[in-house]
Amino acid sequence: MSKVRATNKRSWVRRGLAAASSVALGASMVGLAAPAHAAGCSVDYQVNSWGSGFTANVTITNLGSALSNWTLEWDFPGNQQITNLWNGSYSQSGQHVSVSNAPYNGSVPANGSVEFGFNGSYSGNNDVPTSFSLNGVTCDGSSDPGGGDPGGGDPGGGDPGGGDPGGGDPGGGDPGGGDPGGGDPGNPGDKVDNPFAGAKGYVNPVWSAKAAAEPGGAAVANESTALWLDRIGAIEGNDSPTTGNMGLRDHLDEAVNQANGEPLVIQVVIYNLPGRDCAALASNGELGPDELDRYKNEYIDPIADIMWDYAQYDNLRIVNIIEIDSLPNLVTNTTDNAGGTELCDQMKQNGNYVNGVGYALNKLGEIPNAYNYIDAAHHGWIGWDSNFGPSAQIFYEAANASGATVDDVHGFIANTANYSALEEPYINISGTVNGQMIRQSDWVDWNQYLDELTFAQDLRQELISIGFNSDIGMLIDTSRNGWGGPDRPTGPSSSNDLNTFVNQSRIDRRIHPGNWCNQAGAGLGERPTANPEPGIDAYVWAKPPGESDGSSEEIPNNEGKGFDRMCDPSYGGNDRNGNNPSGALPNAPISGHWFSAQFQELLANAYPPL
Ligand code: BGC
Repeated sequence: MSKVRATNKRSWVRRGLAAASSVALGASMVGLAAPAHAAGCSVDYQVNSWGSGFTANVTITNLGSALSNWTLEWDFPGNQQITNLWNGSYSQSGQHVSVSNAPYNGSVPANGSVEFGFNGSYSGNNDVPTSFSLNGVTCDGSSDPGGGDPGGGDPGGGDPGGGDPGGGDPGGGDPGGGDPGGGDPGNPGDKVDNPFAGAKGYVNPVWSAKAAAEPGGAAVANESTALWLDRIGAIEGNDSPTTGNMGLRDHLDEAVNQANGEPLVIQVVIYNLPGRDCAALASNGELGPDELDRYKNEYIDPIADIMWDYAQYDNLRIVNIIEIDSLPNLVTNTTDNAGGTELCDQMKQNGNYVNGVGYALNKLGEIPNAYNYIDAAHHGWIGWDSNFGPSAQIFYEAANASGATVDDVHGFIANTANYSALEEPYINISGTVNGQMIRQSDWVDWNQYLDELTFAQDLRQELISIGFNSDIGMLIDTSRNGWGGPDRPTGPSSSNDLNTFVNQSRIDRRIHPGNWCNQAGAGLGERPTANPEPGIDAYVWAKPPGESDGSSEEIPNNEGKGFDRMCDPSYGGNDRNGNNPSGALPNAPISGHWFSAQFQELLANAYPPL
């Protein structure tokens, strides 16, 4: 995982869409097919507007002979301006737009389709274009080859007429009875508002045994931790660190057993996107950047199939935590940011994070007892104004991609596998020291936030204001953000020097808030709890304590994991952590593997104490 952010945040307000976040309007969805006349092509243009921003998903159907490359052109009727586009490249001059294929989607067979999407900004009306041309020929073909929605759009779900490309549930159907019309059934209505309320938490026997085997570990071995499906093989149980030799089905059987007829939550981390962990190396995965089809067919579909088999268990609540770190990386770690990476550029350009997350949300959201929470980084990553709003926008984009809708999103999770403190009891972020604002301190560095609790609560409001449902709830991963032990401050510093005051008062004792790997001095945080604060569905232990964030030196492995120097205690840092030492513990195994020394330190520094 990367859990990183770039520096120079203050110069980042560059995306037109950022402004939309302050305009609280419900999303409107308009579907329109281009007028039909002669053969050649047809275009389905779906747009989702909010305030001054919008997302459009465009499907071109080729009604002529096979193409090896394509360019679609149109004129916007108003002042719409494209701000970023995926699955193609674009140019815009005034109202005229030209979009050409990406290197990987130029071939379109006769009667085949290809999709791309984009974000834009506008003012006034956001009318849809009335005419398109493909490779210079006006698209006058049948307006709706997929049997979609010629008239009134698709208010329920945004399935752009073509049904469920590639996804389908061929033969098996949805055992729960959902999805009768081919679209997205939305919230089936029988989901509870907060799945954690009144429910026990699943104790993963694989993690529990490792924790119990450590000295003092029995004190926490019965806590609920999440099950990470960190590769395709983990679905069947392949000795992956958190699933062990139990497959997803075995864990769900065990969950039914532990539930014993009462409500129980099992948390499953969906973590296998193509080009995973684009800004770091420690959790790179098995799928290459372009392997979205494998993600859908070999990863999400089998998981959904298994979960559907447990849909009958009303008391079993399956919380799916969706794709840690992925979407925020598209905001802060592309190369237009200091320290960005080309892989993040690629993942933004090819749309596979957005479309993969959308696909997961759509497929898993249909399951009546499954609850999707999207990963939302943490305050030390997207707490600056310049990336807070844009991150919310990209979550919204993903929640409307690949057939998903906001009804597939139950909430968001902050701080997954990170170390950011829940609260900083001795520092007021709006305060001053000797006439200088706390925000100016080196530690805060103009961030709007110092802690996860207010960050998560404010992010929730922001998400609701741009179109997410008003009953979404937040989770916060408190597995390793306790910061107790003998070095924990017991009150505010008495220093008059701003940086000394902040450094002596803060309970988060990392060298820099951008440090994310096996942090020395950390402790277990709040034990998992439902409904701890307004807007917060639960404190959870998403990262199983004791599982490494990454190896401190190069260790060959067959999991796709690289060596990230942010896990090397001798590393002096990079742009994303202000060129500070990594603060990582030595002698760490590769990510996900058991790290006994870290577990012992987490026990010793637990806060609240054990
Ligand atoms: C690793 C996964 C592991 C997870 C939980 C991630 O950093 O990449 O393999 O399952 O942590 O420990």
